[in-house]
Amino acid sequence: MRVTISDREIVEKSAAVGARRLRVGVAGLGVVGGGAALELIGEAARYELCAVLVRDREKPRAPELDGVRKYTDVGVFLSEGPDVIIDALPCGDAGRVLIERALEQGVSVVSANKQAVFGSLARFHRLAADNKAAFAYSASVGGGAPMVETVRKARSAGEIKSLTAIVNGAVNYILTLVGSGVSFDEAVARAQAAGFAEPDPAADLSGDDARAKASILAFEAFGVEIAADKIEVEALDAARADHIVRDGRAWRQLTRIEKLDRGVAARIAYECVDGDGFFRAVRDEGNALRVVNATGADFTCADKGAGRGPTVRSLFADLEAIHTAAADGAQEISLKNPPPLS
Ligand SMILES: NC(=O)c1ccc[n+]([C@@H]2O[C@H](COP(=O)([O-])OP(=O)(O)OC[C@H]3O[C@@H](n4cnc5c(N)ncnc54)[C@H](OP(=O)(O)O)[C@@H]3O)[C@@H](O)[C@H]2O)c1
Repeated sequence: MRVTISDREIVEKSAAVGARRLRVGVAGLGVVGGGAALELIGEAARYELCAVLVRDREKPRAPELDGVRKYTDVGVFLSEGPDVIIDALPCGDAGRVLIERALEQGVSVVSANKQAVFGSLARFHRLAADNKAAFAYSASVGGGAPMVETVRKARSAGEIKSLTAIVNGAVNYILTLVGSGVSFDEAVARAQAAGFAEPDPAADLSGDDARAKASILAFEAFGVEIAADKIEVEALDAARADHIVRDGRAWRQLTRIEKLDRGVAARIAYECVDGDGFFRAVRDEGNALRVVNATGADFTCADKGAGRGPTVRSLFADLEAIHTAAADGAQEISLKNPPPLS
């Protein structure tokens, strides 16, 4: 399949919406980046897909994305002059280099790459502010569930006390399958085939993926970056899956983050949720978040937490916010209610 869009079609659509088209570069053209690129082409009145960054330029793509320039070098990719880049790279190191270089050049960043942003959130926010760019990462946690936005909403309504969440769609999918009688190995294979688990599912099963997301949520809630080794995590393996199956009740991997008198604590563990209808209802690749603030009010969200569709929707929510700010003629693009930097 080849995707092209005529210049005439773009001009007509642009005139219709009367807004400036944002030049967008996409880094990574896999499950997430490939979906984002297609969505940008479909939204050609608002966005121009100006370049993509990949590991292997010669790799056959489906669709081929005719006419879109593909690069393997970050510097050359950024020299295409994007207003915004979408970071859909799978690795932390390459993602951090990309984000840093983009923000330094005043290019806004929308990232799905939790491994790249966690631990560097405060630094990237400052870099963005110093260079009058936006830095957004809703897609790095929650998939289609707007977790970052929900935390910000709760925070603006009062001091946050605690957060409880299901943040790993692949693990939840595996738990749902083993609960319905599928073997652990088969469940992992199906999560990979569905694009919910990474090709190497170690980060999902070890809890490292949830750890990164817990750190992002803690930062959003409290402005504190918890070091990865300070977050207690239970791994999922065949023995734990077997225990869950034998128990017969509903179990979920729950991330709990709590404000203490001194600091913030986070832990990720497998818990029985039979008594909690909100989390018990989260099946398959679902994600969910409950935030409780000092007034006792609950703020919740839930949706599909993994896969191309929900992740691309989340990326586009951030992109839309940047588009709106740019259309308003803002010199400095700042998103609403950013986290409290300590
Ligand atoms: N999949 C999901 O459901 C999901 C959900 C939420 C967030 N995320 C996050 O989104 C990101 C992308 O995930 P994905 O599932 O789309 O990964 P993926 O399918 O493995 O695709 C990765 C893409 O990145 C490119 N790439 C890898 N290393 C690179 C490098 N050093 N420089 C340039 N390009 C490089 C690859 O290029 P080639 O094509 O040339 O090999 C490939 O196109 C990850 O950070 C992931 O955690 C994924």
